[in-house]
Amino acid sequence: MKKTIYPILLITGLLFVTSCKPEAESWFDHSVKVATSQLTMQVEEMGDVVGFPRSIRADTLRLDNIYDWTSGFFPGSLWYIYELTNDPFFREQAEKFTGYLHDIRYYAGTHDLGFMIYCSYGNQWRLTRDTTAIPVMVETADNLISRFNETTGTIRSWDFGEWQFPVIVDNMMNLELLFWATEQTGDPKYWDVAVKHANTTLDHHFRDDMSSYHVVNYDTITGEVIKKETFQGYSDESHWARGQAWGLYGYTVCYRFTQDERYLEAAQKIAHFIMSHVHTDDLVPYWDYMAPDIPDAPRDASAAAVTCSALLELSTYDTPESAAYYEYAETILKNLSSDAYLSEEGENFGFVLMHSVGHLPANSEIDTPINYTDYYYLESLKRYKVYPSIQ
Ligand code: GLY
Repeated sequence: MKKTIYPILLITGLLFVTSCKPEAESWFDHSVKVATSQLTMQVEEMGDVVGFPRSIRADTLRLDNIYDWTSGFFPGSLWYIYELTNDPFFREQAEKFTGYLHDIRYYAGTHDLGFMIYCSYGNQWRLTRDTTAIPVMVETADNLISRFNETTGTIRSWDFGEWQFPVIVDNMMNLELLFWATEQTGDPKYWDVAVKHANTTLDHHFRDDMSSYHVVNYDTITGEVIKKETFQGYSDESHWARGQAWGLYGYTVCYRFTQDERYLEAAQKIAHFIMSHVHTDDLVPYWDYMAPDIPDAPRDASAAAVTCSALLELSTYDTPESAAYYEYAETILKNLSSDAYLSEEGENFGFVLMHSVGHLPANSEIDTPINYTDYYYLESLKRYKVYPSIQ
């Protein structure tokens, strides 16, 4: 009897010792831990300064004011880290930095209103159902549709420059606010503008292979296209990496709200283009797929983060490629969470990720951390955690 009991006790003891051993930290938990300490560092650095960390310039922290197109991303990142950690400290900080953007409700000077308000107040509303967010978001949606031109069938992007009526592919990202505004108010006017803009963009912004132009300049008398070109990419006919990602994300969102198969098909074709044209070993693209100095060209982690988040959503829809989208997104997410991109705690001015490109032809923000990279990375971590839901 004894002889048979001893091995059993030994095995039970070993199992006990093994189960008491602390589990190795997963890549996911490590990423959330690093993001938590980095965002704490940024919040502490900001103190009561009314501004938002944007990137690094000349070895100092570059801040946004509220009218900068990236002003919503820092508050948005605070909302995502609150969601990932459930730490009330981050809710308090997210509310504080979101509140700084209040006066954007009176501003109509850019198409970027969707980025600014949906990433900040939109997340506040989504997570807290705080009704004070609603008028801010609806007024902002009104200002955004005030930039719509019936003749061109698009929302005007920028008010600077020599273009007659510039529309950039990035503008697809601002439609989420409009779909939300119709769902919230019951007024179809926001939805109608979003659908018209998405349809016109589909007609003019994409080549046959569903790669996109960056800027399309329209004639406001005839509604015709004057020119298709680039502003932030390498050349008019090249593939600016973040632009491809904005298009993918934008049409995925359009499908979420409308269930229109045309948008699903657009998102799938853009996904196919990206997945068959990014040839880097870690799936983080060069800043432009046709940059002349590849393989020495800088990578753009922001394009990878936006693509990752969009593909996580797209993979939840019923298509034959769903598993491939998920796998591709998961690979990006793990690679962004590796030492090659994830900051060391206490470094990188409190940003979570390294190695993005803002505007290379203008010699601005090259191989630097940028707040929207962190935002879409944190959104990806959240979506990965709650998959197959993304909300
Ligand atoms: N929306 C501007 C950019 O992506 O740089």
